[in-house]
Amino acid sequence: MTAKPARAVTSNQPEVHDDLLQTVRRYQQHAFLKPIADHSKVAFDQAQAQLERWQGPLVLDSCCGVGESTAVLAGRYPEALVIGVDKSAHRLGRNMQHKQLANGREYLLLRADLNDFWRLAAAAQWQPQAHYLLYPNPYPKQKHLVRRWHGSPVFPSFIALGGKVTVRSNWELYIREFALALSAYEKTAQVAALAPQEQPITPFERKYQAAGQSLWELTASLS
Ligand SMILES: C[S@@+](CC[C@H](N)C(=O)[O-])C[C@H]1O[C@@H](n2cnc3c(N)ncnc32)[C@H](O)[C@@H]1O
Repeated sequence: MTAKPARAVTSNQPEVHDDLLQTVRRYQQHAFLKPIADHSKVAFDQAQAQLERWQGPLVLDSCCGVGESTAVLAGRYPEALVIGVDKSAHRLGRNMQHKQLANGREYLLLRADLNDFWRLAAAAQWQPQAHYLLYPNPYPKQKHLVRRWHGSPVFPSFIALGGKVTVRSNWELYIREFALALSAYEKTAQVAALAPQEQPITPFERKYQAAGQSLWELTASLS
C-alpha cells in the first residue's frame, strides 16, 4: 500500500498574526511559572550529567521525533555532544533504524517536554553551538498562536539558549512569524526556501518533499 501524499498546511490565518509582537513582548516581560514535570527534570538531569562529563560543544535537536536528524547531526558535528529531545516516547522508540546515519558517533535522545527542558537548560546556562527545530507542529489555527513556539511563554528560554538556530517548516507563515518574533529580541534571521533536491534529514521533510511541497528554512545567530 502506498502512503497518501502529505497535505499542505491550511489555515484560517492568511497573514502574520496580528497579535504576534504583542504576545512575544508580553512573555518577554513575564516569567513562565508552570511547574516543571518530573519526567522532564529526570531527563534534564541525565543530560546535564553527560554534558559535565563531556566538556565540549553541544548541539540540540529539539522536537527530534524519531531522532533521524539527531543521528545525521551527530555525524555532521563530530566534535559535539548532540542531544535530541522529543515528548513522544513512541517516536523516540523508533530511532534504531537511523543509528547508522551517525557514522559511529554517539548521541543522546531524551523524552521531555520542551516547555520544561528549555527552561531548565537556560537556567543552567547551556549554550549550544547550534540548535535545530525541524518541522515543529505548526498549529495553523489562528486561535492557536500561543501553541507555536515563537508565540509561547517558553520562547524567552529558547532565545536565552542562543547558538546558531535552524528552523524548518512547510508553512511559510510559521517561518515568517518566527523571524518577526526574533526581531523583538533584536535578532536578525535569514529566511530561504529549501532547495527541492536537498537530501532530507527527517521523516517529515521526506514526506513533504515527496508531496512536492515548498519547504522553508530560517537561520539566525542568537549568540
Ligand atoms: C511534526 S513532528 C516533527 C518531528 C521531526 N522533527 C521530523 O521532522 O520528522 C513534531 C514533533 O514535535 C514533538 N513535540 C511537540 N510538542 C513538544 C513538546 N512540548 N516537547 C517536546 N516535543 C514536542 C512531537 O512529539 C513531534 O515528534
